[in-house]
Amino acid sequence: MSQPHQSMRLADYRPPAYTITDVDLTFELEDHQTRVTAVSQVVRQGETQAVLELDGEHLTLLALTVDGEDKTPEQQTDTALVLTDLPEQFELKVVTEIDPANNTALEGLYKSDGTFCTQCEAQGFRRITYFLDRPDVMAKYSVKVIADKHKYPSLLSNGNLVERGDLDDGRHWVRWQDPFAKPCYLFALVAGDFDCLTDRYTTGSGREVALELYVDKGNRHRGYHALASLKKAMQWDEQVYGLEYDLGVYMVVAVDFFNMGAMENKGLNIFNAKFVLADAESATDDDYFNIESVIAHEYFHNWTGNRVTCRDWFQLSLKEGLTVFRDQQFSADMASPALVRIKQARVIREHQFAEDAGPMAHPIRPEEVMEMNNFYSVTVYDKGAEVIRMLQRLLGQGGFRKGMDLYFERHDGQAVTCDDFVQAMADANGVDLEQFKRWYSQSGTPQVTVQSEYDAKHQQLILTLSQHTPPTQDQADKQPLPIPFGVELVDEHGSRSEVLSLSESEQRFCFDHVASNPAIACLTGFSAPVKVKQTIADSDLIRIALKGQDDFVRWDACQTLFSQHIHQLAEDSSRNSSEQVSEALSELIAELLKSPPEDAALLAEMLMLPSFDTLSQQQDIVNVDGLLRARKLIVTRLAQEFATQWQQLVDERPKQDYAYTAEQANWRRLLDRAMFYLAHSELPEAETQLQQVYQDSDNMTQTLGVLTGCQQANLSLFDSLMSDFEQLWRKDSLVMDKWFSLHASRPQDDMAGQLESLMEHPMYSINNPNKVRAIWGPFAMRNPQAFHQADGRGYRLLTDYLLNLDSVNPQVASRLVTPLLAFKRFDLGRQQHMRQQLERLAEQATLSRDLYEKVTRALKG
Ligand code: TRP
Ligand code: ZN
Repeated sequence: MSQPHQSMRLADYRPPAYTITDVDLTFELEDHQTRVTAVSQVVRQGETQAVLELDGEHLTLLALTVDGEDKTPEQQTDTALVLTDLPEQFELKVVTEIDPANNTALEGLYKSDGTFCTQCEAQGFRRITYFLDRPDVMAKYSVKVIADKHKYPSLLSNGNLVERGDLDDGRHWVRWQDPFAKPCYLFALVAGDFDCLTDRYTTGSGREVALELYVDKGNRHRGYHALASLKKAMQWDEQVYGLEYDLGVYMVVAVDFFNMGAMENKGLNIFNAKFVLADAESATDDDYFNIESVIAHEYFHNWTGNRVTCRDWFQLSLKEGLTVFRDQQFSADMASPALVRIKQARVIREHQFAEDAGPMAHPIRPEEVMEMNNFYSVTVYDKGAEVIRMLQRLLGQGGFRKGMDLYFERHDGQAVTCDDFVQAMADANGVDLEQFKRWYSQSGTPQVTVQSEYDAKHQQLILTLSQHTPPTQDQADKQPLPIPFGVELVDEHGSRSEVLSLSESEQRFCFDHVASNPAIACLTGFSAPVKVKQTIADSDLIRIALKGQDDFVRWDACQTLFSQHIHQLAEDSSRNSSEQVSEALSELIAELLKSPPEDAALLAEMLMLPSFDTLSQQQDIVNVDGLLRARKLIVTRLAQEFATQWQQLVDERPKQDYAYTAEQANWRRLLDRAMFYLAHSELPEAETQLQQVYQDSDNMTQTLGVLTGCQQANLSLFDSLMSDFEQLWRKDSLVMDKWFSLHASRPQDDMAGQLESLMEHPMYSINNPNKVRAIWGPFAMRNPQAFHQADGRGYRLLTDYLLNLDSVNPQVASRLVTPLLAFKRFDLGRQQHMRQQLERLAEQATLSRDLYEKVTRALKG
């Protein structure tokens, strides 16, 4: 295996020996030989003889001076430059050369199609120049960019444009100044030729802000939704948190090559085009939703992340958990709050619980990190947001707001820790949050067991709650956590609810005046990121689903009912007939269709079977074949039994012109469900009907709904519609990603030929993360039938590909390896096949640090 990479530990944090107060950067942009001149004002913080260790990777050093005198570094390695014998304060000049056009890792400065752009979080700035690449070094930036005027009319960086001019060799230049001190991970530069949409926003206090959205030429009409979302987010943050934007210009640039969703660089956000561009024909309701929420997320970072930033990368959840929480609040205010909450609970159950159960388990504030990019995780982001939500539940909305105000009052302009955040919350509210801090340091998924005793004579209900967090690979011993546990008691007269505070291993709660034995609905609003163990009768689940007040538990009751029946059927391979599916499910669906909830999106979610991933999280050893078979049997049974109702829902779909409104989007979600079942109904006219829906569609949501239904039900219509779709969209990169995904997630046994031919498509490129993810993501994560083939061929296909991808883009490779890490949760045969592939990776001499960390953790576990 490659040279052992080193880990960093939170416990080893030390303040920097030197800091940098001001930086003056000059970029002379060329495809292969970009010259970067960095002039930094450096000040010693530590003792007199302190050495200065600058980070730098993939750089060619051309010149180095201290206060104008040439300086010879004491030591130069692949990753650092060490300087000694330095004055207390000095000017450091570093000249480096880099190769943006060959930068396929997409970290640092790279070329995406014809555009130069940067990605510096977490540690990409060190690929631009030698620097103190850590977030607790905050400097003021002045940036000069020089480039060919014809090819790159737009030259952008952070802050305000202060000067510009032309050179007589066809190049032009600009100078940007950012008045706010920032860590280098928030630095950004863009050079390209764009269509620009502009708008204005006036803040509550009267500041005029110019809004500028830069998109590929010809895509202007697809930018309006993002721009409207930005203005909504700006207004919302003023209303809800009293936070205003602080510069005269806010720029958003959409690029085609990007490792993640988007990046909150100060005043100059850079986005994956997928989270910017939308119009009715080419984008789905989900795309519209995601754009609104990612635009908001990056905007909200201006306060939670930029004005107050992280002291070190172990504190990542300080900005990410909090900002995800804020974007979720915003999304809930914009559309269907029930749907937003259900989506979020699904992310936690399908992905976060899986992370806890595997070799990469870590607390929301990790303690040991080898490659920081591996910790932009569902745990840090989404569990992090759940932890903030629990805090808000604990303190109330007003108390939470007081805590936020104090946090900004204390820490504006600083680089701080998660403890600082919790302390501000505690001090603002005069409460003790010591036990609560365990949520930051303890990994794993708590299990809450619920037992109830009803005493009819005294009309009393006693609930006994106990909590237990199983050990995780990173941490053996677990302590009890404070868990806000929402319960709703539903009986024939109505319902009542309460949030119980569970903080010990076991506690009893007594309810008086309970007239009859109620159904006990747990975790109202998904009040904590925990698993619930409860024995509950089908009739109670149906009662909660139909009569509950809380939307989340209504949906969850349906999920539990489905799950219980799928698991039963899965364990009994002799039961091969859909006839034997329980009456309870039929009763539930019949009642839901007869008296549906008001929110069509909620109904759509209640009618949706739990995914394979959710079901597999409920088993200790995943029964792949049993689950797939049982789930299919139940789908088919419900499809047939209610065929006329599905047909009717499809026929009665509203026919007005497309608009992305909550009402229409919710309705289309229900239409999606109905089409899914119709496709499985085996009705002779189903295909004609679905074809009709495809033909009269004026929007991508409906079109994709038909395709997905046909794909899941394996209808022959799928192939003809897919070729039609390709003919229509083959020039459109973002839409073709949907086409790739549909092919890659098609349930079938052998995918080798299929994947091969997708990668021969002219639109495919291994250098473009969206393409890689559109094919390999769905195959490895949403196609259990193909991926988990018992002979291991699915695992081998993925690994063959990862061995290539790792040298092109380690960050993307590292995300795709996730499904292999969980091998211990499968039967022995599959375990062996998965382990074999991990070992193949481990034997690769040049394995990236990203993959090395995950693969070694998995094999050692
Ligand atoms: N901070 C970004 C966010 O808002 C995350 C991010 C974008 C990122 N690009 C990245 C993280 C590249 C690591 C590497 O969530
Ligand atoms: Zn973020």
